[in-house]
Amino acid sequence: MSQHSADPAPNTVLATVARHRDWWRDAVIYQVYPRSFADSNGDGMGDLEGVRSRLPYLRDLGVDAVWLSPFYASPQADAGYDVADYRAVDPMFGNLLDADALIRDAHELGLRIIVDLVPNHSSDQHEWFKRALAEGPGSPLRERYHFRPGEGEGGELPPNDWESVFGGPAWTRVTEPDGTPGEWYLHLFAPQQPDFNWNHPAVGDEFRSILRFWLDMGVDGFRVDVAHGLVKAEGLPDLGAHDQLKLLGNDVTPFFDQDGVHAVYRQWRTILDEYTGDRIFVAEAWTPTIERTANYVRPDELHQAFNFQYLGTHWDARELRAVIDRTLDAMRPVGAPATWVLSNHDVTRHATRFAHDSALGTQIRLAGDRELGLRRARAATLLMLALPGSAYLYQGEELGLPDVVDLPDEVRQDPAYFRGAGQDGFRDGCRVPIPWTRTGSSYGFGAGGSWLPQPEGWGELSVEAQQGAPGSTLELYRSALAVRREQRGLGAGDAVEWLRAPEGVLAFRRGEFVCVANTTGESVTAPAHGRVLIASDEVTEANGEAKVPADTTVWWTTA
Ligand code: GLC
Repeated sequence: MSQHSADPAPNTVLATVARHRDWWRDAVIYQVYPRSFADSNGDGMGDLEGVRSRLPYLRDLGVDAVWLSPFYASPQADAGYDVADYRAVDPMFGNLLDADALIRDAHELGLRIIVDLVPNHSSDQHEWFKRALAEGPGSPLRERYHFRPGEGEGGELPPNDWESVFGGPAWTRVTEPDGTPGEWYLHLFAPQQPDFNWNHPAVGDEFRSILRFWLDMGVDGFRVDVAHGLVKAEGLPDLGAHDQLKLLGNDVTPFFDQDGVHAVYRQWRTILDEYTGDRIFVAEAWTPTIERTANYVRPDELHQAFNFQYLGTHWDARELRAVIDRTLDAMRPVGAPATWVLSNHDVTRHATRFAHDSALGTQIRLAGDRELGLRRARAATLLMLALPGSAYLYQGEELGLPDVVDLPDEVRQDPAYFRGAGQDGFRDGCRVPIPWTRTGSSYGFGAGGSWLPQPEGWGELSVEAQQGAPGSTLELYRSALAVRREQRGLGAGDAVEWLRAPEGVLAFRRGEFVCVANTTGESVTAPAHGRVLIASDEVTEANGEAKVPADTTVWWTTA
């Protein structure tokens, strides 16, 4: 039986689908990491024109929208998550006209564009922060950040015990204009990323204006960076004994997931709703529980929130079922879709995470069994795309890319890596520029090199190598997205009906669809459920029974 039964959807279908109301409830959204997607000018760094030139690829892949990681003016201390000017494009990515052209072209192709918004902190090169430093203690600009005198006799100790997510203290002491050591400022991430004080009205005003700037440019939504961090507990109380904080972690702290953040989002929602076009917010909110995540997507707040509990779940039927149930139960009362995600620019790619049998977490630097990792990743993606709700894909996962685990230390750029004892800082491994062609200096990424070296053999994973190749991961993604578009019921709804299945196997029905995911290392026999729509590996059927190979997901339709 064939693995793929549907051709990519014709463009006319794409355009129609993209216009349907509440499009985001079951949308598949593709994350572009602009540095590493496509380089139009051969400088080794991806750019907006590169993204624009590859939009037809994304249309043909069959996604509904594209989320772009930050491309704003930035000294790049944290790959653009340190913004110096929220209304300007960094010259290394292009200019505002390029952004405009990208948005327009995307719309013509029936794709929506979501941009990243970084409201928790700015760059230390932001005009406000530079002035705050230059004007010295007492400057009104300092009130827009968190400046404090130090503790200890000479103010030589940080104001409290908070730690940076990237390791080390969350406070840095400044040198005052007169050359003396002075106040401290808060940065939950790198020292080049000072946190805004969201109790100051100018901060809120500024971000409402930034929202309008990009809405007027025509974007379809915002991914809100560190959405859980804006408001800090009153008085900045100590954290107490604590393990090193983790990216996408679920710690309870006085600086994350404070109830005060929701007032900000209720205000933002009214702005978005003034605009036509069904635009959306998606929250990057690390919270202790899925139920806390649901608070961000109440009807008058944001639309989607990444499900990091799902991202962190192992390839294990029991664990997956538990997190799926808990997610759907948490989202139902607020009427928001679940937002599934397996990979992004902050974690080890899922093809590498699943290449290990032991639970190594989401930041790992071991290749593991690549073949096993890819089998499971393909199966995990089909499982994710069969669940009700929206799903995010990270560039290159459709090629089955593994993490690059052996980057030499001298090419690494992740600030977490340089903060020593802190986060393990392996994020560069998922940020290596993607291969478009079998050969060429950077495998079609650009005419020059690539800012992170691509491993040997990368060309065999390229779009060129996989395009049209039966059984390739790229063709699996295309077929899955085409089936999802054709069968509108697939992403809809808010519930699954679990079916009896052997140990290690997930089976559920949703209307006329049945999805079976075998997470074990052995093939299993399961009842066949009509017609196979797609499978991540060869499924054979006889006498009403199907043989589902190890680490394989299959979708059936009974219609
Ligand atoms: C978010 C981003 C991450 C960045 C951090 C600080 O977690 O996804 O890449 O380092 O925020 O802005």
